[in-house]
Amino acid sequence: MIKDLITKSRSYRRFFQEVAIDRRILRELVDLARLSPSAANLQPLKYILSCEPKKNALIFQHLGWAGYLKDWPGPAEGERPSAYIIILGDTEIDPAIHCGANRLTPPSLWRGCDHGIAAQSILLGAAERGLGGCIIGTVKREELRRALALPARYEILLVLALGKPKETVVIEPVGTGGDIKYWRDNQGVHHVPKRSLDSIVIG
Ligand SMILES: Cc1cc2nc3c(=O)[nH]c(=O)nc-3n(C[C@H](O)[C@H](O)[C@H](O)COP(=O)(O)O)c2cc1C
Repeated sequence: MIKDLITKSRSYRRFFQEVAIDRRILRELVDLARLSPSAANLQPLKYILSCEPKKNALIFQHLGWAGYLKDWPGPAEGERPSAYIIILGDTEIDPAIHCGANRLTPPSLWRGCDHGIAAQSILLGAAERGLGGCIIGTVKREELRRALALPARYEILLVLALGKPKETVVIEPVGTGGDIKYWRDNQGVHHVPKRSLDSIVIG
């Protein structure tokens, strides 16, 4: 059932780093993104795959993890993602493609949806395979661009961290105070408050 798969597909940030994900699996996941909707059917997204420890380490140092967990700097060595998919926008296909909120005017407003859809397709495919991951928008983009020697035509939109999850993530209702910040308990369980259906269907 799609609801089961979506429920299982949480944001995971700690992994069994020793469990490798090979390039063939990453290509199969990108193929799910390839089949996903695209504004004006432009299909401006391109992808960089990483599953080698050296390249993974290079990517890792440019990512920001779990902004609400102030005392947690991100996954420790041994619990880091074993693979990444970097979603790029090809500006030679769509000059308006961007990663930030500063150009949210038509048509870049709706064209800006493609990478989110692609990310979710990939994460659902990962969940179906017993893997998990996290969409990372907090990326030192210029530094990562330089580290990867990425040509100027590509914008780094999102980084997807992937691996075999090593943590428990639970969904719970947003409390009466309305706080939506995720939190981690002293057993290391990660809690994600979700708003109720009645509060989001407004008409
Ligand atoms: C566009 C986008 C950007 C995100 N960027 C980050 C990020 O930079 N770092 C991070 O740890 N999580 C990031 N996340 C994950 C969210 O924090 C996560 O989706 C949210 O806490 C809800 O948890 P859930 O995915 O398990 O429902 C991002 C999610 C989205 C959709």
